[in-house]
Amino acid sequence: MVIYLNGDLGAGKTCLVRGVLNALGHTGHVKSPTYTLLEPYHVGGLDLRHFDLYRLQDEIEWEHAGFRDEFDGNNILFIEWPEKAPAPPADIVIDLVIMQQGRRAIMKGNTAIGKACLKLL
Ligand SMILES: Nc1ncnc2c1ncn2[C@@H]1O[C@H](COP(=O)(O)OP(=O)(O)O)[C@@H](O)[C@H]1O
Ligand SMILES: [Mg+2]
Repeated sequence: MVIYLNGDLGAGKTCLVRGVLNALGHTGHVKSPTYTLLEPYHVGGLDLRHFDLYRLQDEIEWEHAGFRDEFDGNNILFIEWPEKAPAPPADIVIDLVIMQQGRRAIMKGNTAIGKACLKLL
């Protein structure tokens, strides 16, 4: 399952991932993968991967880091700044927009599994 998170700096992409992890039972810190590009989590019996590709240099760095291997059909991947990499297509795309108060989240399911997931929300 691949989830793209779109939105300006400060739109709440990392905050949303933190919320999902906390809801699944994660109690530790959730730091932004700004410099590491990837933070892995195992929580609630699920393998989650949180990417922030804002600082990804190019496609070569993506390939060398072995990030493609993370798209293994088992992991659930949240990706901030997906347009920076040749990442596989998204099952769900979430656009976050800064409002005067809070944020607006526009969510779109692109695949059968993505659509099924959004129906459950
Ligand atoms: N839904 C929200 N409503 C109000 N403030 C939010 C919301 N989501 C995030 N923020 C605040 O916006 C700031 C940036 O959030 P962050 O998740 O780091 O953004 P991004 O990852 O998109 O750059 C944080 O201070 C956070 O507390
Ligand atoms: Mg972020």
